[in-house]
Amino acid sequence: MRTVTKDNITEVFESYFGGGTDPRLRQVLVSLGRDVHNFAREGTLTHDEWRKGLEILRHTGDITDDKRNEFVLLSDALSLPAGVEMLHSTHEATSSSVLGPFHVSNPPALPIGGDMKRDFGGPVLLVEGRVTGTDGEPVPGATLDIWQTAPNGLYSSQDEDQDIHSFHALMTADDQGRFSFTTVRPVSYTVPTDGPVGEILNAAGRHPWRPSHLHYIITAKGYRSLVTEVFPSDDPYLNEDTVFGVRDDLVMEYSQHPAHSFPDGFALSGKINEPYLRVKFDLILARS
Ligand code: BEZ
Ligand code: FE
Repeated sequence: MRTVTKDNITEVFESYFGGGTDPRLRQVLVSLGRDVHNFAREGTLTHDEWRKGLEILRHTGDITDDKRNEFVLLSDALSLPAGVEMLHSTHEATSSSVLGPFHVSNPPALPIGGDMKRDFGGPVLLVEGRVTGTDGEPVPGATLDIWQTAPNGLYSSQDEDQDIHSFHALMTADDQGRFSFTTVRPVSYTVPTDGPVGEILNAAGRHPWRPSHLHYIITAKGYRSLVTEVFPSDDPYLNEDTVFGVRDDLVMEYSQHPAHSFPDGFALSGKINEPYLRVKFDLILARS
């Protein structure tokens, strides 16, 4: 087609694809093209706004490096990953949630009952639970990749004072699918605001806070991998997570216990002199 108009542009865009294009690639790009055209038409996008959008993308690229991925943060702030996660969650399994940009590869192994807190100050949190399938069957040997912020609200990759694997651990569930460990209670934190995402949040009158959480990636043979996070029920930001990660079934009660009741069988057993927090939950995987 020779004459391109605002009404036929999606059709023309699609007609330019070669016959041998991968059908899925074609479907995704045509869908993206259609939405981009609608986006421009509906808001009557101006040239200046288009240029500003490109400038934001350029700035996002400039600030991205091995340790900081501003593109992940940008897509999270725009709620795209949350939408994708929900599309692929199954009702019977634990909800998935956002991965975020702070996961680190090759985390150190942590035995069941081990401690992630090390010398960091802050309330001790004892975490325990089981990995099961949707029929309640235990998933022995499931792998849990666990990470969280330090008490200063920073992930290891953001903080020169932490080694890269602090608050990162890889645990293998036992023959009943059980896992347990101690850590320091995670804190609410702000996503980085010194880049283009901070600029967008500010311009939109949005705050940068996330409710505190523990991240998990759970993998097991025969089951779909689950990327998720678990939040405490008393966090003030539960109803306004800036990256849209909260789901009802991921919100857990932390209960408080006196020091003398700390159970045996943990790396910290016999070393706890203060009240501690305890949280128990199961992580449910869908079959692959
Ligand atoms: C996180 O929880 O680590 C996170 C998720 C999305 C964007 C930024 C941070
Ligand atoms: Fe996080």
